[in-house]
Amino acid sequence: MPREKRYAAGRARALGLPTRGTTNRNRLRRVDRHLVEVHRSLLLKASDPLVVDLGYGATPITAVELHQRVRAVRPDARVVGLEIDQARVDAALDARVEGLDFLRGGFELAGLRPLVIRALNVLRQYDETAASEAWLTMCAGLQPDGILLEGTCDEIGRRAAWVTLASSGPVSFTLAAAVEHLDRPSSLAERLPKALIHHNVPGSPVHRLLTEMDRAWDAAAPVGTFGNRQRWAAMCASVDWPTVGRPRDGELTVRWASVAPT
Ligand SMILES: C[S@@+](CC[C@H](N)C(=O)[O-])C[C@H]1O[C@@H](n2cnc3c(N)ncnc32)[C@H](O)[C@@H]1O
Repeated sequence: MPREKRYAAGRARALGLPTRGTTNRNRLRRVDRHLVEVHRSLLLKASDPLVVDLGYGATPITAVELHQRVRAVRPDARVVGLEIDQARVDAALDARVEGLDFLRGGFELAGLRPLVIRALNVLRQYDETAASEAWLTMCAGLQPDGILLEGTCDEIGRRAAWVTLASSGPVSFTLAAAVEHLDRPSSLAERLPKALIHHNVPGSPVHRLLTEMDRAWDAAAPVGTFGNRQRWAAMCASVDWPTVGRPRDGELTVRWASVAPT
């Protein structure tokens, strides 16, 4: 099917069906922290530090927080919240401040060319084909060095998972948790992004990763006497998987190719 036709199907579904706007204060702190710490130099070096929050939900709170967090690193950054639901755009307008605006738009990004797109808890409402087309459409709208952070988290942001994409496509996959509330790493499975959730079956790469994390978590049980943060760090150090970047508190990032559905 031509890309335009499938993309149109995805948008029509979003426009035609009631979409949940569930959001929460501080819900996206993990992905925001990752953005401003791991991608700090991207934010600092950009000539046009435009950040899009795609699908901010029933209230603009997470867009407001993103604006504050990004501006703490890059004071001249602009954040634009895009919503496909005009009523949600209208409801957000009072939250506008310098460097923060709200527009109606979808995966075509309302004609903007962002450095960063954060799209959390949006694509889980789409079918897998439409979600993959949405990746292509959003990546095509990025600045050349730009990134898309696309994923899912629970209602209060204790468990999250996201894919980091460049304009050329997916690069890495991150699992993040409030580890003090985590029983086992594989319980993050319920928050897998759309691209992976239907593939978490025995034998698939993502299932093997979660199994390997559980194995390393069990092996690190003695370290758990010092707390789950230390246990998570020990797990990351011993997990037999191609990881990306330096170890981070409560996060594990792996190469996308190592978990991509086969
Ligand atoms: C569950 S809320 C997520 C809110 C917020 N991002 C969060 O994580 O808390 C999903 C929102 O995405 C919006 N949405 C769905 N498809 C969209 C699209 N193609 N473009 C922009 N917004 C979209 C919906 O209208 C809804 O308000």
